[in-house]
Amino acid sequence: ADRTAPFPDGFLWGGATAANQFEGAWDEDGRGPSIDDHLTGGTHETPRQLTVTIDEDAWYPNHDGIDFYHRYAEDIELFAGMGFKVFRMSISWSRIFPNGDDAEPNEAGLEFYDRVFDELLAHGIEPLVTLSHYEIPYALVEKYNGWASRELIGFFERYCRTVFDRYHDKVTYWLTFNEINSSVMPFGAVLSEGVVQGLEGPLGVMDVSAQVRFQALHHQFLASAAVVKYAHEHYPELKMGNMALFLQYYPLTSDPADQLLCQQAMQKANWYCSDVQVRGAYGAYAERVWAEEGVQLHIEPGDLELLEQGKVDFYTFSYYMSNVVSVHELEETSGNMSMGGKNPYLESTDWGWQIDPTGLRIALNEIYNRYGIPLMVVENGMGALDEPDENGRVHDDYRIAYLQKHVAAMAAAIEDGVDLIGYTWWGPIDLVSAGTGEMRKRYGFIYVDKHDDGSGTLERVPKDSYYAYKTIIESNGAEG
Ligand code: BG6
Repeated sequence: ADRTAPFPDGFLWGGATAANQFEGAWDEDGRGPSIDDHLTGGTHETPRQLTVTIDEDAWYPNHDGIDFYHRYAEDIELFAGMGFKVFRMSISWSRIFPNGDDAEPNEAGLEFYDRVFDELLAHGIEPLVTLSHYEIPYALVEKYNGWASRELIGFFERYCRTVFDRYHDKVTYWLTFNEINSSVMPFGAVLSEGVVQGLEGPLGVMDVSAQVRFQALHHQFLASAAVVKYAHEHYPELKMGNMALFLQYYPLTSDPADQLLCQQAMQKANWYCSDVQVRGAYGAYAERVWAEEGVQLHIEPGDLELLEQGKVDFYTFSYYMSNVVSVHELEETSGNMSMGGKNPYLESTDWGWQIDPTGLRIALNEIYNRYGIPLMVVENGMGALDEPDENGRVHDDYRIAYLQKHVAAMAAAIEDGVDLIGYTWWGPIDLVSAGTGEMRKRYGFIYVDKHDDGSGTLERVPKDSYYAYKTIIESNGAEG
């Protein structure tokens, strides 16, 4: 489609990944296990299981990922072929500090990221680095119950200072915690906070109290503020961002009770975390949220001052779908990690996530008019079943349509006045699903020959969407 091109010069087009979902090499060169290495593979219907020890007979898809650890040069070449300006990736904390609380970093881990950043920069691609993307060294879960312990703040600071000091010449854009607000919902307790010491069972329904989750979140806020402050003081050229799972809620009806419920859902799911990270203070409604959740937050002297001193420079978020709430009866959606009822006006992906580009335009306006700082969409994408044809080619017109509609929504938001500076598609190369652990839930513009039974050659093949995205980037959003 041809459209006017409101995207500013220098707009950061690219893709987003997470170390644990694609690096593999989980136990190579001194790396310690992270929480993800204790999660088995699941499916749309069968949840992933968290296990305390590694079960020889079970399948742990993150152990091998798609082997970016050894194939990074080839993969970056393919990203450059699409014209990427930016590449979002995360550093695996346990590659740098294998146990999380080690006194000294693992030099072999640091060298790996030097190689990756150098390769990106050689191709003119700006790295955008998430410091903690759904991962925590498993030793910190075992010894400290993850972020439930305040001691983690110091370990996280040591890790972040190490990587800022090492890479500040190579990496300008940093994000602290991926989808930090996921812990407002129960599933964040496992992936984001690691407050599952000694626990085993299905991902998403761990029995962790709101008290523990919200207290751990407070510790993450402090850790985020501390490292943002450190970066600003030592390396003023660095740009520090938050990262939120943006949940655009709609009320099902015009019943004022639905409107109120929707407003409260937006406060709890979205603004609770980003008000702290962007404005440097808990929102006025936070007391009500704590009361509803039965939480008594323990705040130490100096905490609120630190939050105020560690405000981020730009706001980033993932956007996949919108969600419906109502005091009236709702039809359920079937999506893993989806947070509301079914919207009768929208279609869904194969995994039940409701496709809503207009919701992205609404979200961009809501966020920008609340905070007035630059925004980046750092995840957006469509997990689908791809069937290669007899020549091994994937004709993913459904993914191209999803991409084009979301690009058009961003163009409209920019025309609405939103300061949007970048867009990184989730999973530009097929990788392991966070929610289900599957390979068959594919997001990529690049097909990876790897399957849920562990088979596959790991060969990379561009899909039709690869060329569609290339056109979009080449024309800075005007074509394709
Ligand atoms: C986000 C995460 O929730 O969505 C990613 O930040 C994740 O890590 C992505 O992969 C898509 O979710 P899923 O479950 O389809 O992999």
